[in-house]
Amino acid sequence: MKKRFLSFAMAVCMICLLTITSCPAAEIPADNGGTNLDSAVLTSAAQPVAAFTDVPSDAWYAGAVQYCQRKGLMAGTSDTSFAPDTPLTRAMLVTILWRQAEKPAVNYLMQFSDVPEGQWCSEAVRWAAGKKLVNGYGDGRFGPNDPITQKQLNLIFQRYTNQSVTGGIPGFDGSSKPATRAQAAAAVMNYARLSRRDTGKVLVAYFSATGNTRPAAEKAAEVTGGDLFEIVPAQPYTAADLNYSTDCRANAEQDNPDARPAIASTVENMEQYDAVLIGYPIWWGRAPKIVHTFLETYDLSGKTVATFCTSGSSPHEDATLRGYQPDAVWLEGRRFSGTSQVEDWVNGLGLPKAAEEENKMYLQIGNTVWTAALEDNPSVTAWRELLAKGPLTVDMSDYGGFEKLYQ
Ligand SMILES: Cc1cc2nc3c(=O)[nH]c(=O)nc-3n(C[C@H](O)[C@H](O)[C@H](O)COP(=O)(O)O)c2cc1C
Repeated sequence: MKKRFLSFAMAVCMICLLTITSCPAAEIPADNGGTNLDSAVLTSAAQPVAAFTDVPSDAWYAGAVQYCQRKGLMAGTSDTSFAPDTPLTRAMLVTILWRQAEKPAVNYLMQFSDVPEGQWCSEAVRWAAGKKLVNGYGDGRFGPNDPITQKQLNLIFQRYTNQSVTGGIPGFDGSSKPATRAQAAAAVMNYARLSRRDTGKVLVAYFSATGNTRPAAEKAAEVTGGDLFEIVPAQPYTAADLNYSTDCRANAEQDNPDARPAIASTVENMEQYDAVLIGYPIWWGRAPKIVHTFLETYDLSGKTVATFCTSGSSPHEDATLRGYQPDAVWLEGRRFSGTSQVEDWVNGLGLPKAAEEENKMYLQIGNTVWTAALEDNPSVTAWRELLAKGPLTVDMSDYGGFEKLYQ
């Protein structure tokens, strides 16, 4: 076979050519920091998710308030009130965005005379000014404690996201009226939803014999915007089958290394998914055998995979499952006893971003699979043509300590 030398320089070019896209999705730290509107002091005291007496559970903004509070983006004005109809200040809005961006450290000079260094909002204002989200009033002032108008809020989000996040928010017409804290919470949640759209496509597959795992799976699908697939046994489990204090079917299957209970239906076009989350109950410390069936049915190479479970008390376990899909990118799984932790877990996984399919390339080096986005240039066109014929295997070895040789 014709031998070719790939010089170190070319290897560098190749690396430059490929942009690895599997960067972790940003997770917003749930730092529980909060503000007190009166003093505008950022507290660092841990603050549990409060039940605000002024946020009725059926209020249009209840979900948004809960979201912002849970993410540590906004807190109440006291332990029991959120003040949904109170105007939001300009400093508070940029602080929320800064927190949502995971509090990036910035070293720009403070441009505004009315935002002294070391204030609760200084870093956030500096960050927002540096990103050209805010310009201030043009006279050197930022007006941190002024209410932010709906128009200003729209403008800031427009600069930040290039998309509208305020459509459909009650009472929001983009005028010079102050934006309320409830409206701001809704805009922030809309933004989070929009940014999730560029997450790769997710499948949430779950098995639930008695219904405990189902709500967690549904929540995971809701949070990821993914598709839900129930792993339904071809032969349903009866109560007697699950009575683990007897010689029941479930016990027999767990004891039998070869047991692979059949699944009633199949996932359509597994190819379309970038990530697969798999939920199940723990049976005798392990995933039920039907989950083994599921994992043996599909090729998840290159996909991101994570499992979650419910159980009486046993911890999460997926060591055996990982063996079925060694070429998947496995992430840390989790046990849930309800649904309240699901969103944080999902957001913390760093699920892959969607790459435009035609620009995506899987690059397996050893046992690790990377996703690479292809640039648009003549070398890539040639590379594409080569790849169109099928997967390409490149065996490389060191040559002379500075070159890689492949055959
Ligand atoms: C056959 C069988 C074995 C089980 N083994 C365990 C176990 O080892 N540890 C545990 O904590 N719970 C165990 N459980 C309890 C289930 O894990 C728990 O009820 C789970 O939430 C059920 O989820 P599901 O309703 O989605 O099926 C077992 C249940 C069954 C039916």
